[in-house]
Amino acid sequence: MLRAGDRAPSLRELSRQQRVSVTTALQSYMWLENRGYLEARARSGFFVRQPFASEIPEPQFEVSSARERSLGVDDIMQDVFSAANDPAAIGFGAGCASPDLFPSRRLNLNLRRIIHRDPLHSSRYDFPPGSEQLRRQIARRASDIEPGVSLRDVVITDGALEAVSLGLRAVARPGDAIAVESPTYFGILANIASMGMKIIEIPTHPQEGMDLNELERAIRKHRIKACVTMPNCHNPLGYVLPDKHKRALADLTGRANVAVIEDDVYGDLASDGTRPRTVKSFDKKGLVILCSSFSKTLPPGFRVGWIIAGRFRAEVERLKFVTTVASNSLGQRVVADFLESGGYDRHLKRLRTAIALQVENVRQAIARYFPAGTRISRPAGGHLLWVELPPKTDSLKLYQAALAEHITILPGPVFCCGNRYRNYIRINCGHKWSEVYERALLKLGRLASEARA
Ligand SMILES: Cc1ncc(COP(=O)(O)O)c(C=O)c1O
Repeated sequence: MLRAGDRAPSLRELSRQQRVSVTTALQSYMWLENRGYLEARARSGFFVRQPFASEIPEPQFEVSSARERSLGVDDIMQDVFSAANDPAAIGFGAGCASPDLFPSRRLNLNLRRIIHRDPLHSSRYDFPPGSEQLRRQIARRASDIEPGVSLRDVVITDGALEAVSLGLRAVARPGDAIAVESPTYFGILANIASMGMKIIEIPTHPQEGMDLNELERAIRKHRIKACVTMPNCHNPLGYVLPDKHKRALADLTGRANVAVIEDDVYGDLASDGTRPRTVKSFDKKGLVILCSSFSKTLPPGFRVGWIIAGRFRAEVERLKFVTTVASNSLGQRVVADFLESGGYDRHLKRLRTAIALQVENVRQAIARYFPAGTRISRPAGGHLLWVELPPKTDSLKLYQAALAEHITILPGPVFCCGNRYRNYIRINCGHKWSEVYERALLKLGRLASEARA
């Protein structure tokens, strides 16, 4: 059986095997290529891309209403951090790409060059808004999506989560209500909770995003101050929100004067190769605050992120200074040099292809090894899978059993407040596919059949 990444038989082999002409064989391959099952590679032939993708059922949308809840995931987060630092662990938990997918050789060359040419590189603070060279590059890329963005609009942060946190503090105070997608990235939930703000979870459809009727009701009922959203390659659902939904969200929040904190950290990883638009690009009132970083496309340890805060820019700059004074200068220089050299887009292309392949291999393995009734998301980008296990499965038990086998996953309840998504897990597919991961998924599948509520 051919798997994602395997080379398909050559046209001659196929025509011999199937007793058809080479032209018919080519037409068949083109038909499969047009439907996304095969990929033609120059001078190498045809390769399997996404076989049987449509046959694997996707998670379902649970209809519910918006609600306020408190958070209780601290213990699990501690486990996840220690497992992420355990070299023996097979990590499907933390949302990171494999180190060998990053252009480390190029970045290290840049680093050496900077140190050589400018031995005093970090001798001064890069006070907010941060390195001009880096802001120019970020503004140039942002203006491809939203014309008119200039380097004055960009403030450098220590990663995307700091950007989200600064955005929230610029628009809301302790006790204010913040709307979030449900499920959503646990870092966002913990961040809101840590600032004493109230979390209002809005039911979120696996392809169409936040239920806007519920959001509108919640805005009225809870007097929502801001809404945190992740329209591109959502963590954990994986969707890219269609443009009409992005526009509708910008319109609704604009009418209600509600600020939007848009987390676009996975935006460069949409697997169809196009750069999806942001909600900010539909913002007419300067109420959308765009937050992102290079943590998902370049080594995350550089901690280079940014925020484009619209009318809240001055307040964000002030908060950045009073919180951390400035961001690390050397990391900003290395990333800025890499962007200036033009290598980033070539790198993105390779990264997206590699990740899409890894995601598909993991989907296939889950479909093979997990209990009947398992549903798997089909992400439009990024390296995260949202897996719905049969209803009686307890993902917290599964998480503990997997941890005992040095396998990390994230159980569904960490993506919400309270105790929902109990039969869901999130699987990170950032790692290069190998037999080790296949064996780990086989084991995980067996443990999933035993992890009964
Ligand atoms: C949706 C989302 N936002 C923010 C972050 C944190 O990004 P950074 O490391 O740049 O702070 C992550 C990391 O997993 C994430 O998934």
